[in-house]
This record gives sequence, C-alpha cells and structure tokens, in this order.
Amino acid sequence: MATPASPTVARILLCFFVLARVCASTSSQPSVGQSFFNVVEYGAVGDGRTDDTKAFKKAWNDACESNVIVPTMHIPRNKTYLLQPLVLQGPCNSQNLTIQINGTLVALGDPSAWKCDKKHCRHWIMISDVDGLSVLGSGTINGNGSRWWDHSLCHRHHVGCGKKPTGLVIDRCNEVRLSELTFQDSPQMHVAIERSTRVAAANLTIASPGHSPNTDGIHVQRSRHVRIRDCRIGTGDDCISIGSGSAHLDISGISCGPGHGVSIGSLGKHGSRETVEDVRRLGCHMGTSNGVRIKTWQGGKGYARDIVFERITVSNSSHPIIINQFYCDHQHCKNQTSAVQISNVTYSQVNGTSRAKAAVELACSKMHPCRDILMKDITLNLTVKGKETTSYCSNVSGRRNSNIFPNISCLEEDEDL
Ligand SMILES: *[C@@H]1O[C@H](CO)[C@@H](O)[C@H](O)[C@H]1NC(C)=O
Ligand SMILES: *[C@@H]1O[C@H](CO)[C@@H](O)[C@H](O)[C@H]1NC(C)=O
Ligand SMILES: *[C@@H]1O[C@H](CO)[C@@H](O)[C@H](O)[C@H]1NC(C)=O
Ligand SMILES: *[C@@H]1O[C@H](CO)[C@@H](O)[C@H](O)[C@H]1NC(C)=O
Ligand SMILES: *[C@@H]1O[C@H](CO)[C@@H](O)[C@H](O)[C@H]1NC(C)=O
Ligand SMILES: *[C@@H]1O[C@H](CO)[C@@H](O)[C@H](O)[C@H]1NC(C)=O
Ligand SMILES: *[C@@H]1O[C@H](CO)[C@@H](O)[C@H](O)[C@H]1NC(C)=O
Ligand SMILES: *[C@@H]1O[C@H](CO)[C@@H](O)[C@H](O)[C@H]1NC(C)=O
Ligand SMILES: *[C@@H]1O[C@H](CO)[C@@H](O)[C@H](O)[C@H]1NC(C)=O
Ligand SMILES: *[C@@H]1O[C@H](CO)[C@@H](O)[C@H](O)[C@H]1NC(C)=O
Ligand SMILES: *[C@@H]1O[C@H](CO)[C@@H](O)[C@H](O)[C@H]1NC(C)=O
Ligand SMILES: *[C@@H]1O[C@H](CO)[C@@H](O)[C@H](O)[C@H]1NC(C)=O
Repeated sequence: MATPASPTVARILLCFFVLARVCASTSSQPSVGQSFFNVVEYGAVGDGRTDDTKAFKKAWNDACESNVIVPTMHIPRNKTYLLQPLVLQGPCNSQNLTIQINGTLVALGDPSAWKCDKKHCRHWIMISDVDGLSVLGSGTINGNGSRWWDHSLCHRHHVGCGKKPTGLVIDRCNEVRLSELTFQDSPQMHVAIERSTRVAAANLTIASPGHSPNTDGIHVQRSRHVRIRDCRIGTGDDCISIGSGSAHLDISGISCGPGHGVSIGSLGKHGSRETVEDVRRLGCHMGTSNGVRIKTWQGGKGYARDIVFERITVSNSSHPIIINQFYCDHQHCKNQTSAVQISNVTYSQVNGTSRAKAAVELACSKMHPCRDILMKDITLNLTVKGKETTSYCSNVSGRRNSNIFPNISCLEEDEDL
C-alpha cells in the first residue's frame, strides 16, 4: 500500500474518515434503526468543572432532528457533566427518541452562578413538547442543591422562595418512559411531570436529606395516565405529590422515607378550582413520614375523588392516614364556605405503626363534608407499645368493615365492603 504522498492526499483521506464516522453515527442502520448522538463527540468534557451545556444542546438538536427510528442521545458513564439550566425542546422527528444517561449530570452549587431564563429559575433541565421519549440509564442527576435549601436565600437573591428550580421537568410530552435513573439533592422538586399524558416512571431512586425543604420526589400536575412503579424515594418533602388536573394515576411499589409520604394536594389555594380523580396507590411502604394524605385549602372549589389506597404499610409514621380540608401553610387562613369536595376514597389494608396517638385524622369542612370514605382492614398501632391509637373525624360520612384499629366511629359499619 502506498503511503499518502502529499498533504492534499492526506487531507482527502482524513475527510473520508471524518465523513465515514459522521455517517456511522447519524445515518439510519436499517437492521437496528438506532444511532447515537454522544455528547462527548459534541464537545462535552465531563470533568465536572467545564460547562458542558452547549454540547448537550447540540447533541439534542441533532437527535431531535434525526429521521432514524430510535435516535439516542448518549451520555457516557464515568464522567461528570456540569450543566447550566437547559431546555431540550421538541417536537422531534422520531417517536422513539431516547436519552441514555449513564454518566453523572451535576448543577452548579452556587445559586447566584445559575444562568436562569428571564431571572426565573423554575427548572434545571426541562424536556418540552416531545411525543415518544425514553429517558433512562444507570446515571445520576445531581441538582447539587444544598445551598438553595438555605431559607435566607429568598431574601438575598432574585430567586423567590417559591421559584427554586425543579431538577427535571417533563412538560407537554406524551408517551414518556423514565427508568433506572438516580436523582439527588435537587434545589427543589426532583422530577415534575406537567401537562403530559401516558408517562411511565419505573425503578427510579430519588435521594435527598430529610431536612431539605420542598424537595418533593415526583410531582404530577395537569397530567393524565401516569404510572409510577418500583421507586425508592427519600426526600425532605412529599415522596410523591399529586397536584391539580391529575387523573388516572397508578402508583405502586413505592418505598418512601424519609419524607412526607404521598400527598394529594394541596388543592384549592387562593379560591382556585382544582381537580384530582382516579388515583390508585397499591403496595407501598412508608418509612418515617406521613402515610397517605389529602390536603385542601378553605375557599377552594373542585374535587378530589375516586381514590384508592391499598396495601400500604407505615412505620413510625407521624400521620398514617390524614385528610385535611383546612390546610394552611401560614398563620392567617380563614374558614370559608366553599371547599374542594372530597369523595369516594378507599383505604384498604393499611397496616403498621404510628408515632402519633391519633393515627387516623379526617378533618373535613362543615359545608362540604367528605363523602363515601371507605375503610377496610386497617391496623395502626403506636410505635411505642402500651397505649392505644385513636382516630379523629369531623364532617365525614362513609363505611367501614369491623377489622379496623383504631375504631373509627364516624363511619357506618358494613361487612359487605
Ligand atoms: C468505567 O469505569 C469502570 C470502573 O472503573 C471501568 O471498568 C470501565 O471500563 C469504565 N468505562 C468506560 C467507558 O470508561
Ligand atoms: C417507535 O414508536 C412507535 C410509535 O410509538 C412504535 O409503534 C414503534 O414500535 C417504536 N419502534 C421502536 C423500534 O421502538
Ligand atoms: C456542588 O457545588 C459545590 C459548590 O457549592 C461544589 O464545590 C461541588 O463540587 C459541587 N458538587 C458536585 C458533585 O459537583
Ligand atoms: C448504560 O447503562 C445501561 C444500564 O442502565 C446499560 O444497559 C448500557 O449498556 C449502558 N451503556 C453504555 C454505553 O455504557
Ligand atoms: C425494575 O427493575 C427490576 C430489576 O431490574 C425488574 O425486575 C422490574 O421489572 C423493574 N420494574 C419495572 C416496572 O420496570
Ligand atoms: C370510586 O372510585 C373507584 C376508583 O377510582 C372507582 O372504580 C369507582 O367506580 C368509584 N365509585 C363511584 C361510585 O364513583
Ligand atoms: C394488614 O392487616 C390486616 C388485618 O388487620 C390483614 O388482613 C392484611 O392482610 C394486612 N396487610 C398487609 C399488607 O400486611
Ligand atoms: C420514631 O420517630 C421518633 C421521632 O422521629 C423517634 O424519636 C423514634 O426513635 C422513632 N422510633 C422508632 C422505633 O423508629
Ligand atoms: C376552622 O374550622 C375548623 C373545624 O371546625 C377548626 O378546627 C379551625 O380552628 C377553624 N379555623 C379558624 C381559623 O377558624
Ligand atoms: C396492634 O394492636 C392490636 C389491638 O390492640 C393487637 O391486637 C395487635 O396484636 C397489635 N399488633 C402489633 C403488631 O402490635
Ligand atoms: C361538622 O363538624 C362540626 C365539628 O365537629 C360539628 O359541630 C357539625 O355539626 C358538623 N356538621 C355536620 C353537617 O355534620
Ligand atoms: C366502634 O365505634 C362504634 C361507634 O361509636 C361502636 O358502636 C362500636 O362498638 C365500636 N367498636 C369497637 C370494636 O370498639
């Protein structure tokens, strides 16, 4: 074989190799239909110090515009990618876009160094307007949020207390799969699913300290047909929170703690009309936390209905079962005539230990009592043996079977449940 005789020939050969590589990585391979858009090939350094945001945007843009069947934005392992707030915007050409995250994504620790859009740090990573998306891998999404948790921050920076960034926001997407990933130390909520349909999250690990404020694990809002399975969640706020406009949620196999449990609401703040319906929550274990909670504000409108909590175990829970129609996160809430109506809520096979004497609290409004509350096979004992647990109810109607401890006197006994 002749060696390249001149610089020109060398350049032509080099061009050939570059082209061949570009073709290999961006063209459709008929047998597989998958091609990789590796962020490292787009210039990501992955040393945890260099800003890799631009490389991620470029890789996303090419993956999004690709016409292959399964374009895969790949984030290789053994590297840590430092990212500023980032929007991965659709719509994209493929219905099977995949983001394979095997490395670690990390945010800047110093809130004032974040480059936020229009000064609103509402998210760190946002994926928007994509139909047909998988986000998966053995990687970690680390919001590095400990300095955001400092409450005095609200007064020092442009970032209002309520405007801290969520780790990953899935907004206006359909047919989404989220799996395997680990999320940690988000400045605020870890994962938010908003205005989306048919979302399946499975096998996620979410971890931040019990003292971190407002770090909900997964928040669902204005979304339908959402399935959350087999996740380990420990945070400083709700493990899963279900906000207004959520319908047809199926949650199972969640282990929660530390954290505030699984909450529906708060609904109806500032007199708003908010709705949640058809939520099934099966086979979940709640560590030191609230168990299952529904909370609404006085003055709201709308409803929370058709909800099932089944096969829930709690251990040393502060409020194993709680409905609160008088929710208020400050000192000055007035009782009002309107309220979010709560009805058709079933609790079945809820067992375990309670740290509080009142293991069941159902505090409903006078004008809009809670209706069709059903309880079946419930045993909640005090963590510290000796005394018996009690229940509290006001303005509640519904039925129970006889296998309920503590006794819940406001519910009518009915063995046919
Ligand atoms: C990543 O690190 C593991 C363990 O150190 C090593 O076995 C593996 O080869 C590395 N992989 C890559 C792609 O660098
Ligand atoms: C791609 O997505 C379409 C539409 O959701 C689906 O019918 C098809 O099976 C998917 N193809 C692959 C290879 O996953
Ligand atoms: C988080 O941010 C701090 C700065 O506040 C930085 O020193 C640290 O290395 C960051 N953590 C990671 C995992 O990069
Ligand atoms: C990325 O991690 C997944 C496991 O989540 C594994 O199946 C896949 O082979 C990994 N890919 C690479 C290129 O390391
Ligand atoms: C979660 O992972 C386990 C072990 O890899 C697997 O058996 C299970 O099917 C996964 N769950 C879901 C809902 O994908
Ligand atoms: C109560 O809610 C359950 C669960 O969503 C639903 O299957 C059932 O039809 C509802 N019952 C009524 C009377 O609406
Ligand atoms: C909870 O206890 C009841 C009896 O009070 C029992 O029927 C049920 O199987 C138990 N469920 C779980 C998940 O332990
Ligand atoms: C229950 O929780 C309380 C308060 O956090 C704690 O002091 C106690 O040690 C816990 N008990 C058990 C058995 O976990
Ligand atoms: C509102 O009503 C509830 C139940 O009757 C009561 O416990 C609470 O103290 C009242 N709150 C105010 C601010 O009046
Ligand atoms: C819980 O309390 C009930 C009623 O006092 C008792 O029968 C049962 O044995 C207790 N269960 C546990 C696990 O302590
Ligand atoms: C609602 O609860 C309050 C306080 O327990 C009670 O005084 C009132 O009679 C109840 N109203 C209805 C309609 O049950
Ligand atoms: C439960 O409370 C109801 C109503 O107060 C009462 O009739 C019933 O005897 C109680 N059951 C037990 C086991 O204490």
